[in-house]
Amino acid sequence: MIQFTADELRDTATRIFRAAGADPEPTAILVNHLIDANLAGHDSHGVIRIPAYIQAILRGQIQPNARPSIIQETPVSALVDGNWAFGQISARYGIDVAIAKAKAQGVAVVGVVRCNHIGRLGTYSTLAAKQGVVAMVTIGSIGNSTAPFGGRKGAFGTNPFSFGFPAGDRPDVMVDFATSAIAGGKVQVARAKHEPVPPGSLLDKNGQPTTDPNAYFDGGMLLPFGGHKGSALATLSVLLSHVLTGAYNFTDKTSLTGTFMLAIDAGLFRDRAAVEADADRVLGKIKDVPPAPGFDEVLVPGEPEVRTAERRLKEGIPVAEDTWAEIVAAAQSVGVTLEKK
Ligand SMILES: NC(=O)c1ccc[n+]([C@@H]2O[C@H](COP(=O)([O-])OP(=O)(O)OC[C@H]3O[C@@H](n4cnc5c(N)ncnc54)[C@H](O)[C@@H]3O)[C@@H](O)[C@H]2O)c1
Repeated sequence: MIQFTADELRDTATRIFRAAGADPEPTAILVNHLIDANLAGHDSHGVIRIPAYIQAILRGQIQPNARPSIIQETPVSALVDGNWAFGQISARYGIDVAIAKAKAQGVAVVGVVRCNHIGRLGTYSTLAAKQGVVAMVTIGSIGNSTAPFGGRKGAFGTNPFSFGFPAGDRPDVMVDFATSAIAGGKVQVARAKHEPVPPGSLLDKNGQPTTDPNAYFDGGMLLPFGGHKGSALATLSVLLSHVLTGAYNFTDKTSLTGTFMLAIDAGLFRDRAAVEADADRVLGKIKDVPPAPGFDEVLVPGEPEVRTAERRLKEGIPVAEDTWAEIVAAAQSVGVTLEKK
């Protein structure tokens, strides 16, 4: 592993995307998203994505300087056209619209279509919670990376969900996970580190269980987490983000995903401060549970990411040698030579 500071990775990623033709503003939003994912401990959605995004720019799937726009809206809803910008730009626009409408009207739903890969969903739910808005974000696709429960052929993408809930003095709650047993990007990370994936998360192309991450890139597929329950959530993710939004009607390019966002003002039913104080009490009760054998303490969702970010800001971010080699090659493809680390 090679250790980088967050600023080193930010500068590197910025140079690469600027050389690929992205303007300073979308570059900054994208790069901050990637580095925040690394800081949060989700290396699957950090700088490891640079090569794929550069390739997507070069083949025209990502329009680096496109801006999202609104296709249709009501006081409580908006259908956003991502216009094939970086997915992070489209989703950021979508959540900003959802937050503003929820603050004005109490609730809001937003769909984002013609949207590239949006990265780590927790970024968006955290943004909402920080502003006193409860949020749910899901991005679903009918792909072939994840098999439905009981199946041996892929039918879903990894169809993640994220929820944000504002707390008072405690850190806001941030729930954020793929509905596959592990996120696709984490198979990529395991492959780069030459490590197996956990048992029960992967089938090879013949439908046989395996822990070899290479099997995933050779026609294999992930399994849903929690058996039929994960499979049910993955189904719901597609229905909300693809069927409800009509993202299907906009799928004129490959590997596309619709995004669905729900935002609720924390002050909808009663005073926001009272909601946040009660959230603190509920979280405190959970935190006070004595740890089971093998655990140091009970954590609430969002705590691991906050702690990892604090640690990585001080100690740096580890990047696998293979991942760094791919980033160096991606940089070269747009004329940037990276210094040896
Ligand atoms: N854009 C996409 O298409 C896409 C697809 C799949 C996944 N993703 C992203 O991949 C990332 C990783 O997903 P994942 O499925 O590997 O997540 P994960 O299995 O690491 O679960 C993370 C969630 O569990 C919580 N958590 C972790 N340990 C905990 C503990 N001990 N106690 C309580 N809560 C705990 C975290 O706070 C977080 O909410 C997410 O950020 C997700 O948004 C994105």
